[in-house]
Amino acid sequence: MRTPIIAGNWKMNKTVAEARELVAEMIPFLKDVQGVKTVFCPPAPSLLPIAAMLEGTDIDLGAQNMHWESGGAYTGELAPAMVSEFGEFVILGHSERRAYFGETDETVNKKIRAAQANGLTPIVCVGETLEENKANKTSEVVSRQIKAGLADVSAALVIAYEPIWAIGTGLAATAEIANDTIKTIRAVLAELFGEEDAQKIRILYGGSVKGSNAAEYFSQSDIDGALVGGAALKADDFVKIIYVARAEVMKSNA
Ligand code: 13P
Repeated sequence: MRTPIIAGNWKMNKTVAEARELVAEMIPFLKDVQGVKTVFCPPAPSLLPIAAMLEGTDIDLGAQNMHWESGGAYTGELAPAMVSEFGEFVILGHSERRAYFGETDETVNKKIRAAQANGLTPIVCVGETLEENKANKTSEVVSRQIKAGLADVSAALVIAYEPIWAIGTGLAATAEIANDTIKTIRAVLAELFGEEDAQKIRILYGGSVKGSNAAEYFSQSDIDGALVGGAALKADDFVKIIYVARAEVMKSNA
């Protein structure tokens, strides 16, 4: 049984003051939730203040990106140890990083290795463009991203399948299709790590997940939670997504 993860990727939204307000609103509802792992991934300046607010809760913290080098002359970058000082997770290879900041399977691979070496759990993002989807290349694209991105890394990671055409568009992939692609990803993970480890790796879906559609995803066999963008900025919607995940866990335990 894989414990679901619901991670909020706030992207480039919220000042520290706004972030504190959002977290303060959610903590009373989320601090004791059992059976689901909640993760906030705010912009870097909010990591320290939010870490302080999350003390004594079961909520974890993650960064949205980091560099693979341990330090030095890399203006504007975050070193792994700077993230692991406050966070347990780091999102790596998000499609926005790949599209706007030149990230490749090779640089994502270096980052995953650096994250694991620093005790962080990477949330590795994969997903196809609309053109690739229309050309029936989804399996080929995600398999390539997984094989190249995960060369020489350990199985201590989380995968997020985010079809690029479903991000921020309201056009979510249907739960059945997302589940099928996630099964393909799990099969590739089994080739890399063996069946037993592949069964333990959490694979999240991301792309227009909200409170109102979350149950469709979380009731699927292979979807182990969500990486949430827009809805993670709204306290009531994000709390609802986590409660839906918890209800699914209780249903499957019954
Ligand atoms: P939306 O939930 O806004 O579609 O964003 C998904 C995403 O990119 C999370 O990383």
